[in-house]
Amino acid sequence: MADFKKELRFAKEIALGAGDILSKGMKQRLEVKLKGRVDLVTEIDLRSEKFITRRISRVFPDHSILAEEGGETQKRSSHLWIIDPLDGTTNYVHGYPAFCVSIGLEVERKMVLGVIYNPVHKELFYAIKGKGAFLNRGRITVSKETKLANSLLATGFPYDIAETNIDNLDNFARMYKVARGIRRGGSAALDICYMACGRFDGFWELKLHPWDTAAGIVIVREAGGRVTRIDGGKYSIYDKSILASNGKIHRQMQKILLRS
Ligand code: IPD
Ligand code: CA
Ligand code: CA
Repeated sequence: MADFKKELRFAKEIALGAGDILSKGMKQRLEVKLKGRVDLVTEIDLRSEKFITRRISRVFPDHSILAEEGGETQKRSSHLWIIDPLDGTTNYVHGYPAFCVSIGLEVERKMVLGVIYNPVHKELFYAIKGKGAFLNRGRITVSKETKLANSLLATGFPYDIAETNIDNLDNFARMYKVARGIRRGGSAALDICYMACGRFDGFWELKLHPWDTAAGIVIVREAGGRVTRIDGGKYSIYDKSILASNGKIHRQMQKILLRS
């Protein structure tokens, strides 16, 4: 079986390169376009994506790519790179320093590798399936918290929040009454990494896309965490709802989320 060391080295390198693009972009006036009422895209999302997809096509010409801003390349390949070139675009546009680049690799429909880089804090999270999870050079693990009442959680809200009742606000209200606190960081990929290294004890969201979670789920699982759908079913990155936790508070969170 492949050890994915070459792919990891490559993914780390392009995550750092894309991170530089994001850092430099912070200093310039941005051209911002709307994809929806509050769903933004900047020239930097596009520049970062172009940089990543070009590098993948050059180094792994046979591999397929699924990237948020449309940089899709379908090849007859068992390898699929799943890219969010800038997770946390709203934060980015407002100069709120919580965003990252997320690069995942799926092989034969299974996630095997994830790299997420936050260029503001220079934090590089990464994992290969079966090989543990890391932040920069150090091994990371999920928290040991067993009580929801003592837990700090993270979540997010969908871009169609104004047009739908499936808006996560009901869950948020119920959960806030029983947990220690909930943060809405604005970058699902970072939320998952922060769970993986124990800063958060749990995370859930309702309407995510494969590029939001692909890399993160490898990292959090390798850090000892548990990932399911909110209904407890087996999670696939093509599912919308996700519940990720340190494992110990999973059932407690699920109970609250299913009470709607
Ligand atoms: C968004 C962020 C946000 C989450 C949204 C995502 P984007 O990704 O991860 O935290 O709540 O659901 O779409 O648009 O900034 O790449
Ligand atoms: Ca995203
Ligand atoms: Ca994005």
